[in-house]
Amino acid sequence: MTAIRPVRKAVFPVAGLGTRLLPATKTMPKEMLTVVDRPLIQYAVDEARDAGIEQLIFVTGRGKSSLVDYFDLGFELEATMEKAGKSRAALDGSRTTPGELISVRQQQPLGLGHAVWCARHVVGDEPFAVILPDDLMVGGLGVGGALRQMVEAYNQVGGNIVCAAEVPADKTASYGIVDPGETRGNLTEVRGMVEKPRPGDAPSRLAIIGRYILQPAVMDILDAKETGAGGEIQLTDAMARLIGRQPFHAVKVDAVRHDCGDKAGFVLANLAIAMDNPELGPIIEEYLASR
Ligand code: G1P
Repeated sequence: MTAIRPVRKAVFPVAGLGTRLLPATKTMPKEMLTVVDRPLIQYAVDEARDAGIEQLIFVTGRGKSSLVDYFDLGFELEATMEKAGKSRAALDGSRTTPGELISVRQQQPLGLGHAVWCARHVVGDEPFAVILPDDLMVGGLGVGGALRQMVEAYNQVGGNIVCAAEVPADKTASYGIVDPGETRGNLTEVRGMVEKPRPGDAPSRLAIIGRYILQPAVMDILDAKETGAGGEIQLTDAMARLIGRQPFHAVKVDAVRHDCGDKAGFVLANLAIAMDNPELGPIIEEYLASR
């Protein structure tokens, strides 16, 4: 068996328009909307760093430069705060070192597969993670974030890994759905996958959540720019072509997913994170109890 190569790079597809969150996203990228005390994108970056990722690759679009600015060193801000004797601790996670963050543009909204393909030159010939910041993963206390749990699984089995969770039977058309093989612990062999099947056509209720560890061969498949569900270049279709050629597993992680691309999911993510916060938790609970 060939050696399992470490996952050092993570691709963040962040070019989307966020239409489900309008009007909030009219001039503000959805990834910059605040969840409790930091923008949504910072949770994704924190999770990547927790998993040992060294290279952050943002696939952005027009009007989304604030995502890259956010992770710069706020030089004037920091100098002013230092002069005033103010703590800069709150800024810690929002800084990158030079070269840690690279951004590329997805010039047209042609689908998730296309967004990932836009990062091909930066990914190069090594395995990489993909994190969809909309899927905010909360929990996993003491076991690390969702991506770290996936990297641990990857270090055992190599190949390709998707994060997965059971969804209600009537929700399969919102997800990539796995055709599951044998399950051992939290790992399930993937025999096939299909993007957004109608409930009657779905091979299972095991849905792909927005975390992936992929081998670079997926980029060669994406090169063909074949379109699938919704007329888009789908990552799920490209991944499906790797099955049988390389190991492919779905892993269930110890964390709860909140879909922050949706208003209800966004509010629930705020609630879940605030309730885990020792300062805010009791205030929210008291408020909820009073309702
Ligand atoms: C994307 C993927 C889908 C996956 C989902 C997870 O869909 O195409 O396979 O299940 O993310 O959030 P989207 O939500 O972008 O339509």
